Order: sequence, then C-alpha cells, then structure tokens
Amino acid sequence: MTMTLIPRFAVAAALLLLGTIYEIQAEDPYQFLDWNVTYLHIAPLGVTQRVIAINQQFPGPELDTVTNNNIVINVHNNLDEPLLLTWNGIQQRRTSWQDGVLGTNCPIQPGRNWTYQFQPKDQIGTFFYCPSTLLQKAAGGFGGIRIHNRIIIAVPFLPPADEYTVLIGDWYKLNHTSLRGALDGGWKLRSPDGILINGRAPFGTFFSVQQGKTYRLRISNVGSALTLNFRIQGHRLLLVETEGSYTQQNFYDSLDIHVGQSYSVLVTANQAPGDFYIVASSRFDTPVLNGVAVLHYSNSPLSVSGPLPSGPAPWDVNFSFNQARSIKWNLTAGAARPNPQGSFHYGMINVSRTIKLFNSAPVLNGKQRFAVNDISYTNTDTPLKLADYFKISGIFSLNSIPDSPLGNSPTFGTSVLDGGYRSFIELIFQNNEDKIQSWHIDGYTFFVVGLGSGVWNTTSRQSYNLVDAVSRSTTQVYPQSWTAVMLELDNVGMWNIRSQTLQRQYLGQELYLRVYNPEVSFRTEAPIPSNAIMCGKAAQH
Ligand SMILES: *[C@@H]1O[C@H](CO)[C@@H](O)[C@H](O)[C@H]1NC(C)=O
Ligand SMILES: *[C@@H]1O[C@H](CO)[C@@H](O)[C@H](O)[C@H]1NC(C)=O
Ligand SMILES: *[C@@H]1O[C@H](CO)[C@@H](O)[C@H](O)[C@H]1NC(C)=O
Ligand SMILES: *[C@@H]1O[C@H](CO)[C@@H](O)[C@H](O)[C@H]1NC(C)=O
Ligand SMILES: *[C@@H]1O[C@H](CO)[C@@H](O)[C@H](O)[C@H]1NC(C)=O
Ligand SMILES: *[C@@H]1O[C@H](CO)[C@@H](O)[C@H](O)[C@H]1NC(C)=O
Ligand SMILES: *[C@@H]1O[C@H](CO)[C@@H](O)[C@H](O)[C@H]1NC(C)=O
Repeated sequence: MTMTLIPRFAVAAALLLLGTIYEIQAEDPYQFLDWNVTYLHIAPLGVTQRVIAINQQFPGPELDTVTNNNIVINVHNNLDEPLLLTWNGIQQRRTSWQDGVLGTNCPIQPGRNWTYQFQPKDQIGTFFYCPSTLLQKAAGGFGGIRIHNRIIIAVPFLPPADEYTVLIGDWYKLNHTSLRGALDGGWKLRSPDGILINGRAPFGTFFSVQQGKTYRLRISNVGSALTLNFRIQGHRLLLVETEGSYTQQNFYDSLDIHVGQSYSVLVTANQAPGDFYIVASSRFDTPVLNGVAVLHYSNSPLSVSGPLPSGPAPWDVNFSFNQARSIKWNLTAGAARPNPQGSFHYGMINVSRTIKLFNSAPVLNGKQRFAVNDISYTNTDTPLKLADYFKISGIFSLNSIPDSPLGNSPTFGTSVLDGGYRSFIELIFQNNEDKIQSWHIDGYTFFVVGLGSGVWNTTSRQSYNLVDAVSRSTTQVYPQSWTAVMLELDNVGMWNIRSQTLQRQYLGQELYLRVYNPEVSFRTEAPIPSNAIMCGKAAQH
C-alpha cells in the first residue's frame, strides 16, 4: 500500500498539469492509494483455495482516513473477470458516480484500472469496502475503513491506547466461481464452512494488549450469510459507535453483528494477566460455527484454555430484539460536525410516503431466485445512472417496483423506486421468511425507529422510538418480523438498496432508489467524473 499526504497546493498544481477537472474541495487533504487486486492461493480453513487479495493482502489494506479527506484510489483489476469495489456505509454525498455498484458504474475490465475519487463528507466511524458483483465478496477483496474525527471535533470517550480492526465473517472452502456456478444452476448455497477473523481460522489472530489499558475494536461482519455474536472471555464490551453514529455507551457481554454491519467497542484489559478467547459465533443457523481469536496480555504467563465463553442461544430472538432496541444514539455527542446531530429532530418530521419492501424466495424458470415485492432484480448492461445521465431510454422505468407488494406472481425486473428529492420517507422491511435478513441502503444513513415480530401495520408505529433511534446504513430484520426505518432523501443520485446476504443479492434481492433534482446543480450533484467508464448503450457517449 502506498499512502501519501501531500499539501493542497502541490496537488492543485499536479491536477492542473494533468488537465483534469476534479469536483473535490481543494482545502481538504488528499490521500493517494494504489490498489492491485489479484488472486492469491492460500488456505484460510486448511484447504488451499483461490482468494481475492489487494496488494497481496487478505483481507485487503485498511482505508484509514479523516472526515472530508479526498480519497483517490487507483484500483488495478488483475482478476480474470470484471470488478467493482463498493464502500459500504460511505455516503458518497452528491457522488453516486463513485459508489461502485452495477447500477452506477461500468465494471473495471480485467487487466484495466480505474481511479475512484471521493470524500467521506461529514462522516466519521467504522465501515468496510468489498467487491459488489459476481459473488466476489465470498472470495475476499474486503477490508476495513476507519474515518477519524477531524482534530477539532471532540470524540465522546478518552483516546484508546490503540485501535484494532476486527473483520469477522463466515467462509466457504469453495472458490467464488464454484459458488456462483451453483447459484447460476438454480441452487441455494448450503451453510458456510467456518468463521474467519481477519482472514484467519480459529486461533490464527492475536490482539496484543497491555494490562490496564483500553482499546477500540472496530468490528465489521464482512461475511456472506451469518449473523455473528461477538464476545471476549472475561471482558465486557462498551459500545461507542456504529456505522458513523456515536451511541449511548452501554456495556454488553456479547454483541450481535449482522452481515454488513459495523460497530466500535471499547475493551479495557482489566483482568489478571492472561490470554482470553475472542469468539464470533453464528446465530439463527445450525450448526453453530465459531470463529476464535485471542486477546493476549503482553505480560500473560498463560495461553487460552477451557471452554469458549457462551453466548445467547442460537435462536433466542428475544435476546436480539432487546439488544437491538437498547442500541441508541447519543444525542449530545457531536460527530463529524461540532453541533450535536441530535439537533435534527427526525421524530418531528411528517412522513410523506411509506414504502414496504417484502423479501421472498421464489423459484423462477425452475431456478432459485430471491425477490423484493415480487420482483427479482436483473442487472442491465448500461448502468442506470449512465442511462439517466445520457437520457438513454429503454434501460429502466421509474416506479418499476410498487411501494408495497401487489400480490402478483414473481417476475424478473429492473426495479427503480422514484424517490422525491428532499422527501421524508418511512421504509418497512417486512420479512415473512424464517431466515434472518440484513438490508443496506447506499448513499444514506437511516433511523432505525422500530423492530417487531409479525406483520407490520399502522398500529406498529406506536412502538417507534422517535427520540434517539440510532442512525446507520445496514439493519437486520428478524425471521417473521419487520424493521421500520426513516430517512430524508437529501442525497441526489442512483442508490442501491440490497440484501447483505450475498446469495440473495446475487439472485435478485436488490433494487435502486433514484433521488433526482430536476434542477441541474453541482451543489446537489457532482458532475460525471472525467474518467467514467462507458459500457452498454452508454459506450457511444
Ligand atoms: C499487480 O500484481 C501482479 C501480480 O503480482 C503483477 O504482475 C502486476 O504487475 C501488478 N500490477 C500493478 C499495477 O502493480
Ligand atoms: C490507470 O493507472 C495509471 C497509472 O498506473 C493512471 O495514469 C491512469 O490514470 C489510470 N486510469 C484510470 C482510468 O484511472
Ligand atoms: C454522550 O456523549 C457525551 C458527550 O461526549 C458524553 O459525555 C456522555 O457520556 C455520552 N452519554 C452516554 C449515555 O453515553
Ligand atoms: C474452483 O474450485 C473448483 C472446485 O473445487 C475447482 O475445480 C476449480 O479449479 C477452482 N477454480 C480455480 C480457478 O481455482
Ligand atoms: C420471548 O418473549 C415473549 C414475550 O415476552 C415470550 O412469550 C416468549 O416465550 C419469549 N421467547 C423466548 C424464546 O424466550
Ligand atoms: C405534521 O402534520 C401535522 C398534522 O397534519 C401538522 O399539525 C404539523 O404541523 C406537521 N408538522 C410538520 C413539521 O410539518
Ligand atoms: C396490527 O398488528 C397487531 C399485532 O400483530 C394486531 O394485534 C392488530 O390487530 C393489528 N391491527 C390492525 C389494524 O390490523
């Protein structure tokens, strides 16, 4: 990894020399990175297989940055198939051009490179990046993202002695092309084979700590399918942040982290010197799989021994509902800006539209698919965003997905919701299946106002948290349950709403939300990047 911080004047001069017009604010520092994406043959679970590495690292390098920095990443695709990386939880304000999903970007062809440029505008927190197409995430290509507060903005806890990125996730011993072959053939994937922590099998990762000191763990579930319960033997987790929101600081013995979610916890090494198990075990699935790492005190005389610390029963959904409802926003903690985020009273705003998204698992043409409101998404050769920009007709139509299911038979389609710019919407994720779901929205964070069992109805609103619900970008939906979120559509662009369960997304459980400002203005949307890759019907532009 190469990372350079260069003063703004040098950068401005260099960019002028290149004759390139960048729509990034010049006053913020630049970070230039060069990422080489290749295959690597390693044995994460004891069987040699082909994984996706970045700069020979698996997981990929950390993207370590500060609010508003300009990130310039030249991504070289040395795989044998097209590639796109997406920045899970980075809002890409005004720049869905940089989102790295097939609805916004043409993929980087094998042997080619493409330079992403974006700013984590007014964002802080813990996130990750990953490949967004072709099931590549099942082979790796992911890594952690840390966005630190600018130095002038207070952090609501004392500086930790150190920070560790902890990427937890389920793993298959099969390579992603084999897994894809199974899905293309009409099958569902069986349960994963194991759980990795930072790319390693049980006992492969050690986190060193000094007795008496406090550490920040930035944990993301980068897996394909399984909810993981995270815990550390003999230590409590002080939850402080999730996906860019500082939370009310509560202690937990263990924390459920659903696929695609990120959390920061503080852990104090307050035990007698020793080594302690760190466990990430699967929930809502059988058999239970355990990922194990070790918390190692520098003066430890012992190695880990005895049974793993136990977590909640795998199917105890009450534990999960209670924990989910206890995770609240700290209204007095500032975040990226000096003024408290809590001054934005989302609970006082009138909802202008309620959208209900029902997930389902239909069989279409004899093959397993997954759907939202009875439509199983199919990608277009021309990215929706480019079709919109160049006014190419016949690629998608607005409101090609209803605001709630109509009871029609499931079909294939390219679903695009027409989101009214600046409208305030309520979105209900309704899960009538027995499998847990995890949903993500690009370009936004949303307030998770309620979670309940059964089928949502208007009475369910009585249980909403309209005061201090946490704001994040990925939420779980428990089996036979609903989750309600609210958001203001203030970020113009074409935004992916997807299942974070990889096979569900691959087989059609996603859609796009088009937030459009008819008045063309660089203040609401940055111009198309000069290096934008063209493909499909946009190729002649
Ligand atoms: C990427 O890595 C491959 C394999 O190590 C190497 O052949 C290639 O030259 C590298 N490309 C760049 C741009 O660094
Ligand atoms: C590809 O990489 C080269 C340097 O290796 C760079 O000059 C060029 O701008 C990159 N192309 C794109 C489209 O980012
Ligand atoms: C919220 O943040 C404030 C300001 O940083 C901090 O003093 C307070 O302890 C936090 N409250 C909770 C409940 O975590
Ligand atoms: C992927 O896995 C399958 C089944 O194990 C194997 O036959 C195939 O050669 C692998 N592909 C690559 C490129 O390693
Ligand atoms: C969950 O809570 C409900 C109501 O509080 C109770 O009826 C049910 O038995 C509980 N289930 C479990 C598994 O604890
Ligand atoms: C919301 O709607 C209520 C009832 O229609 C109205 O009294 C109130 O002023 C509205 N609030 C806002 C912020 O528009
Ligand atoms: C809404 O759902 C609740 C709980 O499932 C149920 O008791 C109630 O009768 C429903 N109300 C309506 C209006 O359907």
